[in-house]
Amino acid sequence: MRTPIIAGNWKMNKTIREAIQLVLAMKDELDAIQGIEKVLCPPFTALSAVKLLVAGSSIKVGAQDIFWEEKGAYTGEISPVMLKELCDYVIIGHSERRKYFGETDEGVNRKVKAALAHGLIPIICVGENLEENEAGLTEEVVTRQVKGALEGVPAHEVEKLVIAYEPVWAIGTGKPATPEGAQAVIGGTIRKLLAEMYGEGVARKVRIQYGGSVNPANIGGFIAQPDIDGALVGGASLRAKDFVEIIRMAAQVKSEA
Ligand code: 13P
Repeated sequence: MRTPIIAGNWKMNKTIREAIQLVLAMKDELDAIQGIEKVLCPPFTALSAVKLLVAGSSIKVGAQDIFWEEKGAYTGEISPVMLKELCDYVIIGHSERRKYFGETDEGVNRKVKAALAHGLIPIICVGENLEENEAGLTEEVVTRQVKGALEGVPAHEVEKLVIAYEPVWAIGTGKPATPEGAQAVIGGTIRKLLAEMYGEGVARKVRIQYGGSVNPANIGGFIAQPDIDGALVGGASLRAKDFVEIIRMAAQVKSEA
């Protein structure tokens, strides 16, 4: 019922020239894969080039952040109005932004509302760090982050958006969560919470991704879980062969389910 969505978060990687090379190396193969929504999230500087290259294909484009105001004296920021010309999706509240740039649940909430107000689909990132995980606080942390991000967002908007569960300890470490562990948080905590907040009907529509050291060898296990609707891929999305393989594997597992 939910179309799985796999997004590549390139983070602060790739010049415009490198971005063009990467897209050209995977575009045709990605375009041909059906049953999975495919999204590329390059840095702001490469959004325009990537958008032109994927025009007319089934590949969509996302940004990695957004500011909540439409325009004005906010040096260095990029507004939803500007992004709307370039992409369909926007990653909001990535743990790296929370950790290095002081992003708070309140800021995430303002960004989510601004994105939705301009027709951009937020990919909201949540996830506990190692310390919180070891202290048994995963459910508490993820619940607080989801509630914070969605404060005041009406049900008809919530059903459009994407949530990415990315345990911080699994990001860039080569140590992913287990599929069962990710399913427990995604199904047992996040989708359950959405059902409590907005009802079963809405909770069933929201797509929830797993992120953290996803690769071609482990994507099958994640996508086979009942509540995991795709992945947010970092490092492996910078390698054309790996990213194509991740999406191909996901499509295969889904078609066999
Ligand atoms: P890695 O796939 O490199 O672990 O990164 C995950 C991530 O942070 C995607 O947003």
